[in-house]
Amino acid sequence: MYNNIFKHLERPTLYKQNDEIFWNDEHISKHMLAAHLNPDFDGASRKLCFIDQSVKWISEIIPFYDYPRLLDIGCGPGLYAERFCKTGYKVTGIDFSKRSIEYAKNSANKQGLDITYVYQDYLKMDYSNVFDLATFIYCDYGALSTENRAIILRKIYHSLKVGGKLVLDVFSMVKYDDFEEMKTWNIHENGGFWSAKRYLSLKAHYKYSDNVTLEQTAVITDSEIKEYCIWNSCFTLKTLMREANEAGFHKFAAFSDVTGKAYTENSHTIAVVLEK
Ligand SMILES: C[S@@+](CC[C@H](N)C(=O)[O-])C[C@H]1O[C@@H](n2cnc3c(N)ncnc32)[C@H](O)[C@@H]1O
Repeated sequence: MYNNIFKHLERPTLYKQNDEIFWNDEHISKHMLAAHLNPDFDGASRKLCFIDQSVKWISEIIPFYDYPRLLDIGCGPGLYAERFCKTGYKVTGIDFSKRSIEYAKNSANKQGLDITYVYQDYLKMDYSNVFDLATFIYCDYGALSTENRAIILRKIYHSLKVGGKLVLDVFSMVKYDDFEEMKTWNIHENGGFWSAKRYLSLKAHYKYSDNVTLEQTAVITDSEIKEYCIWNSCFTLKTLMREANEAGFHKFAAFSDVTGKAYTENSHTIAVVLEK
């Protein structure tokens, strides 16, 4: 029944991809959307009070009257996009979760918000000199492989007008240093995040060189085993700026997070404002 079970429990090679795109799985995407929409949970999106502060800060330092067209990359159900739209930006949101994009479209329609939502893999987007401001928020950049990070940064650079800005956040080395390798298991009698059926989850945390971490979960039901890998690269300001420079971005300002807290090496995140 569990053909090759040990294959799913080994330490994977760097950036091993999931067998399927789990954010479009019927069951998982439901739980993912609920996590995004929980106002007090820092799971898929940050807490709403943080998002409010973040939108306020971004719209103060990069105001809509100077930077009207905004691209929100990995927009999820539109928590940032709606707030940016209400502030005055002309917003395009892009995400590869069908459920999140459908939710975002319905929510915008209900409120009469004129937001363009695109269901697409952001690694395949193809905009040229369209946007004044791009946001890529909640450390999704670090979830990508080195190769895909170079692709997305070049695509964002290409999508911006000259003088356009990118607001981006990543996890810092504090997160990497705090991350501990471990293995745990749990039985989910009534199903849970990964499956509606009863399942056993085997979870492993691994550290890799080059500041990469992996949260690997093997999900074992009565009939099958699936493995999910969540990768994350952690950065110093120097390693982040090296990648930004390689994509063409030069000017920057650094902060501790996307609410504009002053930069310190002790913060779990680094936020940068880059300019084309
Ligand atoms: C950590 S969540 C952050 C969502 C949103 N930026 C926020 O802070 O509320 C990452 C989002 O990126 C989306 N995503 C991940 N990979 C993607 C890809 N290749 N193309 C488009 N969207 C992607 C996910 O569906 C998810 O909505």
